[in-house]
Amino acid sequence: TAPRKLAVKVPEPEEEEDSTQKKVSVFFGTQTGTAEGFAKALVEEAKVRYDNRVNFKVVDLDEYGTDDDEYERRFKKEKLALFMLATYGDGEPTDNAARFYKWLVEGKEGREEWLLDLSYGVFGLGNRQYEHFNEVGKKVDQALSEQGAKQLLPCGLGDDDQCIEDDFSAWKEQLWVALDPLLIDANNATPAVTTPYTAAILEYRVVFHDDAKTVDVVYDPKANGHAMHDVNHPCRANVAVRRELHKPESDRSCIHLEFDIRDTGLMYGTGDHVGVFPENLPENVEEAAKLLGYSLDTKFTLHADDEDGSPLGGGSLPPPFPGPCDLRTALARYADLITPPRKAALAALAAHSSSDADRDRLKFLASPLGKDEYSQWITASQRSLLEVMAEFPSARPPLGVFFAAVSPRLQARYYSISSSPRFAPNRIHVTCSLVYGVSPTGRFHRGVCSTWMKSSLPETEVGSECSWAPVFVRQSNFKLPLDPLIPVIMVGPGTGLAPFRGFMQERAFLKESGQELGPGLLFFGCRNRNLDYIYEDELKGFHENGVISGLSVAFSREGAEKEYVQHKMVEQASTIWNLLSSGGYLYVCGDAKGMARDVHRTLHTIIQEQGSVDSIKAEAMVKQLQTEGRYLRDVW
Ligand code: 2AM
Repeated sequence: TAPRKLAVKVPEPEEEEDSTQKKVSVFFGTQTGTAEGFAKALVEEAKVRYDNRVNFKVVDLDEYGTDDDEYERRFKKEKLALFMLATYGDGEPTDNAARFYKWLVEGKEGREEWLLDLSYGVFGLGNRQYEHFNEVGKKVDQALSEQGAKQLLPCGLGDDDQCIEDDFSAWKEQLWVALDPLLIDANNATPAVTTPYTAAILEYRVVFHDDAKTVDVVYDPKANGHAMHDVNHPCRANVAVRRELHKPESDRSCIHLEFDIRDTGLMYGTGDHVGVFPENLPENVEEAAKLLGYSLDTKFTLHADDEDGSPLGGGSLPPPFPGPCDLRTALARYADLITPPRKAALAALAAHSSSDADRDRLKFLASPLGKDEYSQWITASQRSLLEVMAEFPSARPPLGVFFAAVSPRLQARYYSISSSPRFAPNRIHVTCSLVYGVSPTGRFHRGVCSTWMKSSLPETEVGSECSWAPVFVRQSNFKLPLDPLIPVIMVGPGTGLAPFRGFMQERAFLKESGQELGPGLLFFGCRNRNLDYIYEDELKGFHENGVISGLSVAFSREGAEKEYVQHKMVEQASTIWNLLSSGGYLYVCGDAKGMARDVHRTLHTIIQEQGSVDSIKAEAMVKQLQTEGRYLRDVW
């Protein structure tokens, strides 16, 4: 988990300490903004609870220190710290917490109990469907305690598969019980608030324009004063090529897309990820405008401060998107219309309902009492924001409320890049399967980004009128060994093949330039060779030309029995064992919930049987491979 940040952030200046005032730092590790939102909400609530007598401060972990020394120096001074930490992918920290995590958790060996002055609480954000549920929260909690800090309350384990806001509320109640005695001064007592705290509904100030010219977002990072493209400074890239990878008989779809990155300054490495900001489907954009009661041509600008320049909502509003903007663009590019709404969004809708019935039901759904109803009617039914709004037609939030409190910002989607810059220096290739399905209540849902990709217009077909998207590159550690003689084993069924296509392009390049290659095995899996054997000709070509020494393909729906990549691995157990024993690398890419877990078990079995060791020893050997960076996973 090396830091993946591209842009170097300037650390926040340290404040002069006011020794008379108690201070609590609320750190967050966020990817899509939920942990950050929780940190800000907690601070707002704490201000009221402690009557502004305690200095609660929200801190982005990335901005807290540029290196380990700075983390150490600043943490030594902390007395009370709270951590809101999301876990991503394969039990990994978010980008903005990667450096902190590496320092605190992975670098803890040999440290003494040096955090004896610190009391802390951790709330983790995760999803129970994943194997490494809340790994980051748990590990940070443990590492802090091992290094001498005092745990104020058990680590909160927020589960996004259910209602993470309820988990957070429950954790907060325990937090206040632990904090009150530390923060309420007996002599100078201001009792903690006794009436339940209700969060204010956030709202941007909106300025409407009659016929202003709308602005084009500037996607040139140099113009933004930033050296690099990152999630906050993406770059506009045209869709150069789009083609279907499934055979015509397939009833599913998998798209090969190429972004043109010529003259953008964007650079990538084999195995990196590309972040893509999609656009919502036009029908959803139209539906949203109708539900809001505005014309799509409405032009407006959002402001996060009042007319006098004071920040609104205690400064907790995210920076507004650029304006003047028309509603069509705002809804297409910036609003998440599809994710089931959080309780805070329902509360905001309730506050702007004109019918009592709508208001009462929305309020109930948003309340702790409505927990079961919420998890049934919203979470389990996967009701999208638009579907919920359609059920409450009298709820018409003003635009400033809609963009601040009802609809979260549309997030970038990440894809493993399926090309190598040695082969395609001016292009980023993406391999994306179309996401769609019927929701539990029988409505048809489409994935936003894959649908956008499938319907995008490539330059090869329409020339300069082609589709484009704001994109950026996120570095990964999923890399080939530097020495091409080192054996590599690649396991990637379905679109898990993506980074390995890049690996093979890279190996083909090395081979052509005269380098000798070590053994390379590819395990690929799909349903049926006549339907979804993607890049079939390329893979066979790589094998024939000696770019890889072995190609094993598992077809899961051809015979009576399911055949998966791990079954193919078992067939080649002794080869795998030999390659790993001679220093080889094992890579796994694809679905985390099923495939990667099963492949992991298979690896364990192969090592146990081939190495004639017991299960505990085999476990230790798998761990060893991981520590040496020879067992790498890129899973989602
Ligand atoms: P299935 O859909 O027939 O179950 C790419 O998605 C391939 O991965 C498909 O052939 C799919 O098979 C297979 N797959 C599904 N679950 C898997 C698992 N747990 N392990 C390995 N492969 C799996």
